[in-house]
Amino acid sequence: MRRSRFSTFFPLAYFALLIMVSCSAMLPVPKEIDLQNLPAEFSRYTLTDLQTGRNTYVANCGGCHRLYTPRERTNAEWIEIYATMRKKINIARMEEEKLLAYLRAFARKELQ
Ligand code: HEC
Repeated sequence: MRRSRFSTFFPLAYFALLIMVSCSAMLPVPKEIDLQNLPAEFSRYTLTDLQTGRNTYVANCGGCHRLYTPRERTNAEWIEIYATMRKKINIARMEEEKLLAYLRAFARKELQ
């Protein structure tokens, strides 16, 4: 018996969605308290800016590889990596800064 298109497509679409959701679910969602972790140069940033940064990151940085979680790199590493990766995306400078601010707010703490 032939399966309908819907019964083949639906499970596939469901799993694709599940994978997409679970990937970005690993990424921390900014809260007011996280503003304290922002490096001094981003001290004027608001919660909305951090949320925009997260959205911009999810929308632009997962096309070629998985979305790394911010905690996988330190602040210093993100600065260095971002200098290369920013050339691979095409967004406005202000959005870029928010993206980097998001990664750095949740970066792994460097060992003292
Ligand atoms: C056009 C494809 C592409 C896009 C878009 C892209 N990357 Fe990458 N990324 C790569 C490739 C290729 C590598 C592995 C080679 C390398 O390290 O340069 C990589 C490596 C990385 C690594 C691991 C490198 C390390 O040294 O630890 C991180 C972290 C990373 N990308 C973050 C980002 C972020 C953040 C963005 C969005 C601003 C982004 N990528 C967008 C292609 C891309």
